Amino acid sequence: GVFANEPARSPALEVRSQRPFNAETPPGALCASFRTPSDEFYVRNHLAVPDVDPATHVLTVEGSGIASPVTFTLDDLASKFEQVDVEVTLQCGGNRRREMSRVRNVHGLDWDRAAIGNAVWRGPRLRDVLRAAGLPLDEDAVVSVQPAAAGASAEAAPAGLPAGPGRADAEASPTKRLRDLHVQMEGADTDEGGSPYGASVPAWRAVSAEQDVVLALQMNGEPMPRDHGFPLRAVVPGVVGSRSVKWLTRIRVADEESTSFWQRKDYKALGPATDWASPDLERARSIQEMPVQAAVLRPLPRGGAEAAVVDGTRPVAVEGYAWSGGGRGIARVDVSADGGATWQEAELRDESGQRDGRHWAWVLWHASVPVPAGADTTELVARAVDSSLNVQPERVGPQWSARGLLNNAWTRVPLTIRR
Ligand code: MTE
Repeated sequence: GVFANEPARSPALEVRSQRPFNAETPPGALCASFRTPSDEFYVRNHLAVPDVDPATHVLTVEGSGIASPVTFTLDDLASKFEQVDVEVTLQCGGNRRREMSRVRNVHGLDWDRAAIGNAVWRGPRLRDVLRAAGLPLDEDAVVSVQPAAAGASAEAAPAGLPAGPGRADAEASPTKRLRDLHVQMEGADTDEGGSPYGASVPAWRAVSAEQDVVLALQMNGEPMPRDHGFPLRAVVPGVVGSRSVKWLTRIRVADEESTSFWQRKDYKALGPATDWASPDLERARSIQEMPVQAAVLRPLPRGGAEAAVVDGTRPVAVEGYAWSGGGRGIARVDVSADGGATWQEAELRDESGQRDGRHWAWVLWHASVPVPAGADTTELVARAVDSSLNVQPERVGPQWSARGLLNNAWTRVPLTIRR
């Protein structure tokens, strides 16, 4: 079947679904290193992993502002452009869905807190490749808008024949500012109908020198693993992981978002009033930048227990991660071992060297917190504050959404205290 050619995988991964393969990092491994080892990095595949031949693989760049489609081989991408290393934390929009599904039923994989990971991605900048294809990089530039290619791409128009609608009369061709366009991306993975995975980001983000969007050929200093997009993937810092298209085949500048299911009907920012089947789903805003997030990775309940068991004779060693979207750094992480009555500040560990505004990597944090005297049980909680002083919401309940996306409520761990 279509899943006959999946890559070998680390047995350490915590599998959430086999076909397609979805798995998260064991929490203990996640806080063990600032850069998540590639073989333990969470995997989020919507379809079977495509078998891409690096010798023949090309990236096609086309669309509005680009006179005619341009193709790049992997060799072009590796040798004709400056190669940059960008340290980026990717997080799935469904990270921590499990807690939300306890509020009310949701659609989606049962992700716990490790559908997130941090890695160094290396390759050419997307903006440099767009420039090489002829796109002006100024977001105020006025470009002529190419009509949506219905199924076929523009390169299919035979020479000598009138081009598609809207192209025949250049004067009548509509124009737009680059900042009002979108950069659509497609992967080599396709559904049963032959439609590829697709996503888009606003064009301003793709062309900005400050947004560090990279077309990655390597992950953590090695060729991209198959599960993570071999041989080429987009990495869009600061936004939901779903826009970082793996097995990248095509980039199209267009006057609308990607028409893929995943852009139009999934990964949407829904309120609790919108249900799964509602037409409001399509009208809802697409998730791009993510809100401030943190989770405790240690201590956690073991082996299906409800609570983590801790030694009450000394302070509890607590560890976790914190991250925010849009390049916002982490200002502070507050930790409490009495359900939020009293707090203390965690020690932050940041090995990225990134500055605020372009802080794409997470921070790891740790704290040593005394538990309340005399109690047998308590609740450990933590919450992060980002550089815009956004703070995580206290409860997941009012944040509920039908797809179980965007859970960033305070992270809570019930504790059983042994003395
Ligand atoms: N790209 C393609 N082509 N196909 C996919 O299924 N999944 C997206 C994104 N890019 C996906 C994709 C989603 S939802 C996420 S969260 C990230 O890839 C996950 O990247 P990872 O598997 O390397 O962690």
